[in-house]
Amino acid sequence: MLVQDLMSAPAITCTGDAALTDAANLMREHDIGSVVILEDGKVTGILTERDLLRAAAAEAEPATERVRMWMTANPDVLGPQEDAGQAWSSLTHHRYRHLPVVEGEELIGVVSIRDLFGAASLRPAGEHAADAPKGLEGVVVATTTIGDVRGREGFYHYRQYSAIDLAASRTFEDVWHLLLFGELPDRARSRAFANELASLRTLPKGLRAVLPAIAGAGSPLDVLRTGVSFLGAELGWRPVSDVDPAEVRAHTLRLGSVVPVLLAAAHRLRNGLPPVEPRADLSLAANYLWMLTGAEAEPEHARAIDQYLVVATDHGFNASTFTARVITSTQADLAAAVCGAIGALSGPLHGGAPSRALDMLDTIGTVDHAEAWLRRAVTNNERLMGFGHRVYKTEDPRSTFLRSVAQSLGGPLVGYATEVEQIALRVLAELKPGRELYTNVEFYAGVVMNSCGVAREMFTPTFAVARTVGWTVNVLEQMADNRLIRPTARYIGPPPPQPVPAP
Ligand SMILES: CC(C)(COP(=O)(O)OP(=O)(O)OC[C@H]1O[C@@H](n2cnc3c(N)ncnc32)[C@H](O)[C@@H]1OP(=O)(O)O)[C@@H](O)C(=O)NCCC(=O)NCCS
Repeated sequence: MLVQDLMSAPAITCTGDAALTDAANLMREHDIGSVVILEDGKVTGILTERDLLRAAAAEAEPATERVRMWMTANPDVLGPQEDAGQAWSSLTHHRYRHLPVVEGEELIGVVSIRDLFGAASLRPAGEHAADAPKGLEGVVVATTTIGDVRGREGFYHYRQYSAIDLAASRTFEDVWHLLLFGELPDRARSRAFANELASLRTLPKGLRAVLPAIAGAGSPLDVLRTGVSFLGAELGWRPVSDVDPAEVRAHTLRLGSVVPVLLAAAHRLRNGLPPVEPRADLSLAANYLWMLTGAEAEPEHARAIDQYLVVATDHGFNASTFTARVITSTQADLAAAVCGAIGALSGPLHGGAPSRALDMLDTIGTVDHAEAWLRRAVTNNERLMGFGHRVYKTEDPRSTFLRSVAQSLGGPLVGYATEVEQIALRVLAELKPGRELYTNVEFYAGVVMNSCGVAREMFTPTFAVARTVGWTVNVLEQMADNRLIRPTARYIGPPPPQPVPAP
């Protein structure tokens, strides 16, 4: 920013013969703190509020005392093309508060400390927080007891339990119980909770009726967003501030149970098939596969999807979870928070990668082509889908786990994917040194879902099935200790205020 961008113009002037009263009146009329003294068009001095104070302290008679007796003669001046930093150091170094701006010999304005404060957008300390890094990386914005991600260690947990250990030994429903109630259920409670969830797997009448009309409009995630919005409206979900928290908790169970039903029904309708009615005798994962395909899934496929859902349930303050919490912080209803989260999840930098990772494997075609293809992509600054993570700077534990799930399922894709993965890691280490890029959850998520017969367009929606639980638990936590989330941006456009142009 240059001096000419921040100076006040025109400068207010008087001659050295003017009385102090005249100069003081000019300052008051124009709401300024200095008057520049001109003789024959040239700057000969500057009189500031500080000079008026000195005169008053010396009991000078303002009506008769001349300005030239009290002004600073031959003041330093600034040029209009000097930069704002220069103006700042001139003013602060000499403890000036005002400096005339002169072009050639002509006075064209005055720069004051007030102008600099305005340009720097300085505010009272209580109003203005520190700048956060772009993307809010590393910034703590809340406290939580839901879980945590330790990127350097390649570890994450849900309420103290390693999410990977949970996936190895417990069901998605048990993990849902853990996240919602803070403890893992015993056998009896586990059965009862799973039965309760299974009983909620029905689409309400209105949503069932509109589904054929919306199923074909947009991607499955678009349909989910629209469907969740409709569900909230149909069930009369109100702003969370107006509803008993226990009721919102019941709504979260309903929502989490309906999302897979909604997705599977819409998927079948899109493909010209009638929806398959949900079954209450199957686990959530097995029922999901049943509703998608119309056939009972192999137990190892149902278990693989169950494990995928466990590892994908929650993962710190990722973009969609943060979105859900921001919306809840306004006390909007549960459906609004989840619709916003679905929107955030749909982006390729967040949840939209698993099908793209598989698309990439398809495009590469064979292991022989991988090295050249991957090198060209990285050299052209393209992102390899399924690699890199904001938090993990080592292997993503979900990727390690899902690789082993994929390997236990077997099939030709798994061997090919692991070979391409190794080449990709080598290429990334060579062409993007120091960036610490490793395989993320999405790479093997796609491989596992593909092996279990989930259609590619349903990969990210399946991620949403798991995340709905994470989002809703976060909504409940946000509600319990809410403060409106409302950060600030630093304005860096042209300096305001500008006169509004006439129409
Ligand atoms: C996940 C992701 C968005 C994290 O991004 P981020 O923390 O903002 O990282 P940045 O965008 O700052 O990238 C840092 C550097 O690594 C590179 N990089 C990051 N991910 C990369 C990838 N998948 N392929 C190639 N280069 C990658 C960037 O080009 C950048 O390089 P530069 O320093 O030369 O500019 C990013 O890794 C990505 O786009 N991955 C692919 C999409 C994906 O798999 N998404 C699912 C996430 S679970």
